[in-house]
Amino acid sequence: MPRYDLTGKVALVTGAASGIGKATAIRLAKEGANLALGDLKDLSELCDSLKNYGVKVVALKLDVSDYSSCESFYKSALSELCVERVDILVNNAGINRDSLFVKMSFEQWDDVIKVDLYSMFNMTKQVVPKMLENSWGRIVNVSSISWLGNIGQANYSAAKAGVIGFTKTLARELAKHGITVNAVCPGFIDTPMTRAVPEKIREMILSRIPMKRIGNPEEVASVIAFLCSDDASYITGEVIGVTGGLVL
Ligand SMILES: NC(=O)c1ccc[n+]([C@@H]2O[C@H](COP(=O)([O-])OP(=O)(O)OC[C@H]3O[C@@H](n4cnc5c(N)ncnc54)[C@H](O)[C@@H]3O)[C@@H](O)[C@H]2O)c1
Repeated sequence: MPRYDLTGKVALVTGAASGIGKATAIRLAKEGANLALGDLKDLSELCDSLKNYGVKVVALKLDVSDYSSCESFYKSALSELCVERVDILVNNAGINRDSLFVKMSFEQWDDVIKVDLYSMFNMTKQVVPKMLENSWGRIVNVSSISWLGNIGQANYSAAKAGVIGFTKTLARELAKHGITVNAVCPGFIDTPMTRAVPEKIREMILSRIPMKRIGNPEEVASVIAFLCSDDASYITGEVIGVTGGLVL
């Protein structure tokens, strides 16, 4: 039973093969949205399963750090879905390459900034012109509670703080055109990204979460779905934590 009816909307989700992106794709399909899904990884299994919700789905290879990949992904997705625009963009794809700053290599810095921050420009640039023509759009950027600063994440925190500045600026520029732009900041969510965190550090983070549990990707996806809906029509430029109360 859909809660936020997105029937007939076209939603683009990056990093849809795993974790929060996958949960978001599933949730948006349940809400009736047609989907353009992109990832470096293969999406064919997810694509097939989502068609059971009666929506159109196209899944294509995408590298969000590369402008021309985003450009050709967008063009191919529109053509395969036989639509003229994307109504909803979820900029979700992201990576971490954690290291104390003194040990951080240029590659660790560069990779994270390119995937987590350049991606915002690369993909958003594709969708905004048609959203402007249609005077309606929803953009949700996945940042992180780490934007506030976190030991071992100078690269990731810088990128995710950049996402917040990007979100707030775009929100102001696009508000009068019916386009909302918001950021979600997950805390510690059970996905392949966090499963790679050493047990000792997981325990330490868990002890600092007031809810005393790790979050599920579906708990982030539901906030994203809300922000994509008409129910969130007067919310823009906001940064919404999904953290179980965790403050770094
Ligand atoms: N899991 C958490 O606790 C947590 C907390 C805060 C923020 N986040 C953010 O949530 C988002 C999703 O993370 P997740 O935990 O689901 O991670 P994940 O590793 O499970 O999924 C990330 C997906 O992005 C894809 N991806 C990576 N680089 C890409 C690229 N260049 N182009 C296209 N796709 C690419 C991966 O293949 C993968 O499918 C990220 O932006 C992450 O920074 C996660």
